[in-house]
Amino acid sequence: MKICCVGAGYVGGPTMAMIAYKCPGIEVRVVDVDSDRIAAWNSETLPVFEPGLDDVVLKARGRNLFFSTDVDGAIRDSEIIFVSVNTPTKTYGMGANRAADLRFVEACARRIAEVAQDPKIVVEKSTLPVRTAESISRILHGTNSRNGFQILSNPEFLAEGTAIKNLEDPDRVLIGGESSDAEGKEAVEKLVSIYAQWIPRDRILTTNTWSSELSKLTANAFLAQRISSINSISAVCEATGADVDEVAYAIGKDSRIGPKFLQASVGFGGSCFKKDILNLVYLCDYFGLPEVAQYWEQVVRMNDWQKRRFSERIVKVLFNTVADKKLAILGFSFKKDTNDTRESPAIDICRALLEEKAGLSIYDPRVTKEQIKAGLSPVKGVSESTAQDDHRIQVASDPYQAADGAHALVVLTEWDEFVRLDYDRIYQSMKRPAFAFDGRNILNQSELRQIGFESYAIGR
Ligand code: UDX
Ligand code: ADP
Repeated sequence: MKICCVGAGYVGGPTMAMIAYKCPGIEVRVVDVDSDRIAAWNSETLPVFEPGLDDVVLKARGRNLFFSTDVDGAIRDSEIIFVSVNTPTKTYGMGANRAADLRFVEACARRIAEVAQDPKIVVEKSTLPVRTAESISRILHGTNSRNGFQILSNPEFLAEGTAIKNLEDPDRVLIGGESSDAEGKEAVEKLVSIYAQWIPRDRILTTNTWSSELSKLTANAFLAQRISSINSISAVCEATGADVDEVAYAIGKDSRIGPKFLQASVGFGGSCFKKDILNLVYLCDYFGLPEVAQYWEQVVRMNDWQKRRFSERIVKVLFNTVADKKLAILGFSFKKDTNDTRESPAIDICRALLEEKAGLSIYDPRVTKEQIKAGLSPVKGVSESTAQDDHRIQVASDPYQAADGAHALVVLTEWDEFVRLDYDRIYQSMKRPAFAFDGRNILNQSELRQIGFESYAIGR
């Protein structure tokens, strides 16, 4: 069997690498219009940092896993085409800042329609608004005279940083299709048979297409809601003297609630949560369900507030001004074990501190200087001032350099290496009083205080 994936990003690359690794009998091609990205996939330094990914790619690349820019060739030769292109939030026109921008998906569907010489199974991998499969189907059948294209929804549930583990041993695989007709059923079974090569059959769920599309949005909305819930409680803890980690532990012991996704933080980031919730909100409004829309929108608002609250606390504690003060920022990716910075809370917090005229010295073990600079470059209409603030942004090559001469230490990503730093040494190199703000609750507060830091964490 030959399959391909259009889009070699954080989802397409690792997912297809795992399929190729687990299914040596299937030829897997991953194609992208971005030739630099493809060159990186073919090099020793993959464009995506993900623990365990290098190993999987090395085992399959050149055997039955191929990365190229030959989008048309891959479409023509493949029986199954996964679509894993970007679906950012629209920044213009109708549904701006809420609806998904589907132009990349549509371009991809049109390409398939133009190039395909026989009916294909087209699989939505990117997270898409409910009923996108219908639009893809209309484009395919309207443009290509051959009937019989099958559109399946197969949302990806991997989380970055643990993608390989999630792909190898997923809680479930979800496949949505039209099993009411024979061809639909056959397409679903074909996709099931790929995953069944390494995943127990009872973990491969099949539903109708719309349930599958909506399940992805709902899963992300529920996960993000848990974070906003605990973050809202972190503010109550700070006001009352309770400790949010103790509260999370206590409630997580209730088996109905469970312990996961209750880590209070500076706010959630990543390419999915905000985008998917806004997508859900837009959908609800569209279908005349404003109460439901407002309910979910609050999850995003709470997250924005949490980020704002954190940067305001820093300014307040530093005698109400950070102007011309050096602040050491530890961590820029949206979570540990990834080089992805999309929607990273670090971006909003750094921007807010730059607005206050702080000087930032930023260190992240996996994010490049270029990525950090790009993340903080001015966003039209949001912040014009950061353009002139470029000289205020230093990228440090190690955490000690970042902290040297700083007034405060600000932890924004929970990288393991930050737990093990020599905080005595850091303290000695900083200005007095030396402040520490732990936005991820990973540092030992009493140890920091013993060293001499004036130390703050979330929800304590
Ligand atoms: C998420 C979903 O988990 C995954 O199933 C889906 O396929 C894509 O979106 P991802 O965004 O990669 O995955 O990472 P995730 O582990 O969910 O973390 C998202 C954000 O929430 C990160 O910024 C993380 O730091 C934050 N987070 C997570 C918390 O602040 N507290 C928690 O308890 C958990
Ligand atoms: P995700 O996190 O969902 O994987 P990314 O932005 O990391 O998203 O990756 C999406 C990829 O899809 C990008 O590398 C982009 O170049 C690619 N892409 C977008 N549109 C097309 C297209 N029409 N044909 C081929 N590749 C595309």
